[in-house]
Amino acid sequence: MNEKKVCDIIIFGGHGDLALRKLMPALYHLCHDQYLSTNSRIISVSREDFTQEEHRALMEEKLKLNLKADCYKQEFFNGFKERLFYVKADLADTSSYKVLSDLLRERPDSDRVNYLSTSPSLFGHICKSLHEFDLIHKNSRVVLEKPIGRDLASSRVINEEVAKHFEESAIFRIDHYLGKDTVQNILALRFSNMLFAPIWNAQYIDHIQITVAESVGLEGRWGYYNDYGAMRDMIQNHLMQLLCLMTMEPPVSLDGNSVRDEKLKVIRSLRFIEGDDLNTKTVRGQYSAGAIGKEYVPGFFEEEGGSPNSDTETFAALRVDIDNWRWNNVPIYLRTGKRMSKRYSEIVVDFKKIPHSIFPNKGACIETNKLVIRLQPDESISMFIMNKVPGLTDGMRLQKVKLNLNATENAPRVPDAYEHLLLDVVRDNPTLFMRRDEVEAAWIWADKILDGWKEQGVKPKSYPAGTNGPSASIAMIEKDGRSWYGE
Ligand code: BG6
Repeated sequence: MNEKKVCDIIIFGGHGDLALRKLMPALYHLCHDQYLSTNSRIISVSREDFTQEEHRALMEEKLKLNLKADCYKQEFFNGFKERLFYVKADLADTSSYKVLSDLLRERPDSDRVNYLSTSPSLFGHICKSLHEFDLIHKNSRVVLEKPIGRDLASSRVINEEVAKHFEESAIFRIDHYLGKDTVQNILALRFSNMLFAPIWNAQYIDHIQITVAESVGLEGRWGYYNDYGAMRDMIQNHLMQLLCLMTMEPPVSLDGNSVRDEKLKVIRSLRFIEGDDLNTKTVRGQYSAGAIGKEYVPGFFEEEGGSPNSDTETFAALRVDIDNWRWNNVPIYLRTGKRMSKRYSEIVVDFKKIPHSIFPNKGACIETNKLVIRLQPDESISMFIMNKVPGLTDGMRLQKVKLNLNATENAPRVPDAYEHLLLDVVRDNPTLFMRRDEVEAAWIWADKILDGWKEQGVKPKSYPAGTNGPSASIAMIEKDGRSWYGE
């Protein structure tokens, strides 16, 4: 295990939803499992009036709520809470950083992780204030939560402001999908098995599908979401990262830049979707009222905080082409949406048809091989192959068989994505974080679609909540002679 360095972890926006639901539980586990030095402190910064005791009581309440049932241990918390500190500050007002400054100066040699779990509009100001109080030293890092801008221009502004005070090597841009265990398993699957290497290309793969379906609506974030939509909230980042890991060339090592260099090459090879292609290769959708299971759920406009006449898409499906040798003519279909029939994320690699069948009926029953990587809610990897039906049948009969490639059965608790990523920040390992050039290249590609939709007035098509998006997304893939897996 790496040497454990004493670290001050400062969470700006420390009483926000992300901090309470994800960051604090992740830090609880990291401390419990002794990944962090016992002298490390977790300092929450927020604007409310809280005493240390009130803050610790709030963390106790929220941990009991947000940790899985058997993970909360009162005896452990009683020691853990001694590492929790609260600082009241108005993050937009530099003078109010004095208390934080005094606290950090008690431990001048500790590593510092500044986690900005705030609106991106504050990123620049927080970094500047840290600089003005001389709180940035050689072992300081800054973690930026998405969204990093809503287009190339705004992301550049944020990146510029942060770069005035932190070196690129100290900036950790989080995409929490990269912290998911099964997502990292894509690297293991592709680069530790010779089996897949020779067939991972246009000669053997027909197409790839990536679906991230959510059954939830906007969970009280209507204002934010209305400004972003599925393209900016999910595709430009999470689905893009999955696409990169599935299609990049083998990196020379797992070090910080090798993986990111390869991902960047993929993003730069993505064909722009513009002109008429916007109608044939993209589908925008927006949910109306419907039912998830047996429960009635409101439409996009009727959600809390919602207002009518919004053109924001809550669903997007795209056909993406990668213009390079490996993926020539192998479409990657992306699909994501809110209020779909169920929550699941899945990557399907569909292999090509066999070139010639020796089986009866010209092999009409032979299905193509598929590799299915399930990310959530359950995590699994399966391979579908054809097999002989056992026994004395009349002629050779074939059946589809599912091979289970799971590694997680009976495995210990799978850590949450934030646990993994926070530990990487503490250990100063940037491999699973997005570099500035990567984020900006992803915006250049996404902006073409967003601008095209705007210029051509492409409106989202309505789909009832509880379905798999507008029927146009089925038509989009069927026109290519393919269909969404499982539908
Ligand atoms: C976030 C998006 O980045 O990811 C949310 O802003 C989305 O809209 C969430 O619900 C999905 O994350 P997960 O891990 O639940 O798939």
